[in-house]
Amino acid sequence: MGSPSAVPVAALSLALCALLAAVSRAQQLSPAFYDGSCPHVDDTARRVIQEARVADPRILASLVRLQFHDCFVNGCDGSLLLDDSPAVRSEKNAAPNNNSARGFPVVDDIKAALEHACPGIVSCADILALAAEISVELAGGPYWRVMLGRRDATTANFEGADNLPGPTDALGVLREKFASLGLDDTDFVALQGAHTIGRAQCRFVQDRLAEQPDPALDREFLSALRQFCPASAGVDERLNNLDPATPDAFDNSYYVNILRNRGLLRSDQAMLSVPDGAAAATAPIVGRFADSEADFFRSFATAMIKMGNIAPLTGDMGEVRRHCRVVNQS
Ligand code: HEM
Ligand SMILES: *[C@@H]1O[C@H](CO)[C@@H](O)[C@H](O)[C@H]1NC(C)=O
Repeated sequence: MGSPSAVPVAALSLALCALLAAVSRAQQLSPAFYDGSCPHVDDTARRVIQEARVADPRILASLVRLQFHDCFVNGCDGSLLLDDSPAVRSEKNAAPNNNSARGFPVVDDIKAALEHACPGIVSCADILALAAEISVELAGGPYWRVMLGRRDATTANFEGADNLPGPTDALGVLREKFASLGLDDTDFVALQGAHTIGRAQCRFVQDRLAEQPDPALDREFLSALRQFCPASAGVDERLNNLDPATPDAFDNSYYVNILRNRGLLRSDQAMLSVPDGAAAATAPIVGRFADSEADFFRSFATAMIKMGNIAPLTGDMGEVRRHCRVVNQS
């Protein structure tokens, strides 16, 4: 025993250590990922978003939503950004995104600015993570250190995008869709707080306004919505503020609205108002965030980092796309 095998065993365990270190390094996102290779990545993205915002104040909301729709489908891999091609059935045309997800030209502009500054370095998946944080911050919400180092997918998942959480999904289904990705009830309630900014089309609320309206809808709010979103054809795409109290400010009034039965989407209000005790897990969290904006901000930042960690491609997986809409060499 010992001497003949000691050296190989030591060498092997050293090699194993190196391998494990490499693997854990490869899987670990880090706020410092581009410090050496593209140190001004945040400033560059921020400048493009600031410019876009002048003409389109809604862009901040739209960019936050893009990260959600990216991360929930095959993880945060930029798959959402791929256009239709012979090899790719674009997620952009799946029901939750079609004529709804927006902001893609601004993502292209950020990518172009970063390709100019540091060619081939910053992934499209990381651009979505950065853009989400910058947008929340610019709208008055919390700051967090964005984890970076994701790489881009070479495929998309249309069916996965079709299965994104929807406004008419039951509360239990919604909670399960989040839980299956490692997001607990606090994350679930906090992340929906992104609806403190942005717009929703009439077609997403009309089912609540029918002859037998959603009982969990304030009567005054109901009649205002019925006026703005009449069932008659032609107003399906008319835009409502998701947070009518402070439409463009990232604050906690979204939760205050829900306490007053003024959540816009069925899925917003469901966190408080599903009967038979089904909202027992989420209702207290809604109350907590309505009481304390600081608590909401902390939980939102934590949940965004968790959501951003869903199944990233790292190390040698995937690629860094040159253009976010197409895989490389195609
Ligand atoms: C229960 C889960 C969710 C459902 C059912 C849901 C559903 C929706 C719907 C139907 C719209 C309106 C889209 C339109 O009218 O075109 C919307 C908008 C939006 N969603 Fe969600 N959402 C959910 C969770 C989230 C999460 C987790 C985030 C981000 C962290 C988010 C961020 C946004 C933002 C910012 C908008 C406004 C976008 C804009 O104005 O362009 N949502 N959501
Ligand atoms: C997306 O919307 C367009 C325009 O409304 C429609 O023509 C098209 O069929 C939709 N795509 C899918 C895949 O449903």
